[in-house]
Amino acid sequence: MKTTSIVKVSKAEKSKLEQIDFDNLVFGKTFTDHMFVCDYKDGKWQTPEILPYQALTIEPSAKVFHYGQAVFEGMKAYKDEAGKVWLFRPEENFQRINKSSKRLNIPEFEEDFFFEGLNELLKLDKDWIRSGQEAGNALYIRPFVIATQPGVMASPATEYKFMIICCPVQAYYTKDVRVKIADYYSRAANGGFGAAKAAGNYAGQFYPTKLVQEEGFDQVIWTDDTSHEYLEEAGTMNIFFRVNDKLITCPTSDRILDGVTRKSVIAMAEKLGIEVEVRKVTVKEIIEAAENGSLKESFGSGTAAVISPIGTIGYKDKTYDLVKPEDCYSAQIKKGILDIQYNAAEDPFGWRYEVK
Ligand SMILES: Cc1ncc(COP(=O)(O)O)c(C=O)c1O
Repeated sequence: MKTTSIVKVSKAEKSKLEQIDFDNLVFGKTFTDHMFVCDYKDGKWQTPEILPYQALTIEPSAKVFHYGQAVFEGMKAYKDEAGKVWLFRPEENFQRINKSSKRLNIPEFEEDFFFEGLNELLKLDKDWIRSGQEAGNALYIRPFVIATQPGVMASPATEYKFMIICCPVQAYYTKDVRVKIADYYSRAANGGFGAAKAAGNYAGQFYPTKLVQEEGFDQVIWTDDTSHEYLEEAGTMNIFFRVNDKLITCPTSDRILDGVTRKSVIAMAEKLGIEVEVRKVTVKEIIEAAENGSLKESFGSGTAAVISPIGTIGYKDKTYDLVKPEDCYSAQIKKGILDIQYNAAEDPFGWRYEVK
């Protein structure tokens, strides 16, 4: 066992690396050799550890199973052509998991535990990260916190586990997505916890998403819960519309996840000289724009795919197909962000963080 100044490290005896078919990865199914674990008990976070990836033993009465006290993050590590490993704006993910935790009455995590733990974990598992911007090769990193205290009393737990697990991935959506605008179900409500990356937000999306998938769509575009007149998010992505030459996205709120990619898209678009407007977006104006041809593009933004162009929007019983223009904004913005992520371009924003 090795101990860094903060983290206790127990290495896996044998790596699983040779058994992995890196050309046929299914997103989120293959995990690296190690995981980061830190327990909260007696009112504080205990010594963090890196252990071989393994199953957990948790009592069936643990509160996470009953009351859903669970939050998570999604981030990625990239390897450049020289073999250096990079994270993209990791402090944003750290701040967001603590914001999510606070909303679910989970104790906030320690910043040095997070960064040193993540750094050590990535150093140990760096051979799991392949270079290759074209193929979208990267390591998807999943930090999460669960309430482990046994007992079925409906009250916040006094014991938690903060963990980080990682899986090698390739490009996420490869084809343009088909989305359907929600006119009945909602993802989040005013005063609720839509802005938190809380497990329950995702559980609540599965059924409405299944219904639209049965109609041939991939994802739901979520609208506001009161009137369903305002467009908010696309499945697990923030959403952008290009009307004529302007890029429009709605502001974040306590119903919408404040995406790291969303804010990076806004900054990159502005750098590329694209006019960006952050304001409420109505279903009516987007449908009218789709009908009169001024809706030139639409896309979702998120860590998994960076940008997923939307090919078809469904609303009530109509569908609207979008044909990408030659000066496609989404392709330009995606390339700009990917070049920074893979250390293939200058980083004027200071977004990259080297793992060493
Ligand atoms: C609901 C939701 N909205 C937006 C996003 C995009 O956030 P980010 O760009 O930080 O990945 C995510 C995903 O990860 C999400 O789950």
